[in-house]
Amino acid sequence: AEPSDRPALLLDWYDRHRRRLPWRPPAGERADPYRVWLSEIMLQQTGVKTVGPYFEKFLARWPDVAALGSASQDDVLRMWAGLGYYSRARNLHACAVAVLREHGGVFPDTEQGLRALPGIGPYTAAAIAAIAFDVRTMPVDGNIERVVSRLYAVEEPLPQAKPLIGELASTLLGPSRAGDEKSRAGDEKSRAGDSAQALMDLGSSICTPKKPACALCPLNEDCVARARGDQEAFPRKAPK
Ligand code: ADE
Repeated sequence: AEPSDRPALLLDWYDRHRRRLPWRPPAGERADPYRVWLSEIMLQQTGVKTVGPYFEKFLARWPDVAALGSASQDDVLRMWAGLGYYSRARNLHACAVAVLREHGGVFPDTEQGLRALPGIGPYTAAAIAAIAFDVRTMPVDGNIERVVSRLYAVEEPLPQAKPLIGELASTLLGPSRAGDEKSRAGDEKSRAGDSAQALMDLGSSICTPKKPACALCPLNEDCVARARGDQEAFPRKAPK
């Protein structure tokens, strides 16, 4: 496929195969920024399977950011018990308080606004902006690094390759919803969140670290690492 066809191939695949996860709304429905934020914080150092029940528990007790921001930090820490990395829980609470008191309970809808909140770094800001607000930006996690470094056979090792991989990953974003020529990164509405989550799902279910299931991959014809029969060699890692 032409490079310009790849975003559509990816989104078609996502529409057919996306994982049903507790924080993802039914297809076509708007994601709730609170749920997206809560899930992304929990997923920072914890896998999807473990996060699921914690996510449901938090949501049942604190259905929106105002409720969480009104809770005590102790209650939040108790509910977090078992997830580890407790600074995440303290930042989670501090962030809910900030959104409630400084933003009237409404999450900022830009990466810059999100970055200013406790516990939200560049990856998480991009993930929330893309998934909750369709900002045309690509969050790059480990799964996405693997998919993209294989697709383009990126020879530069991690972590140095991160900026290049970020640029290449952004070429997989679909056009802006306005559908015009103004598809610059960072602005305009698009299905950015679906494109990002498509790559996350590809990385976790098909483009796995060992023995990737390339026959099932929507981008297999374009994958340079696969053409060389050398998928597992990517991403390259700098020697320790
Ligand atoms: N890991 C981090 N964010 C995720 C998401 N939105 N879906 C699946 N896995 C993820």
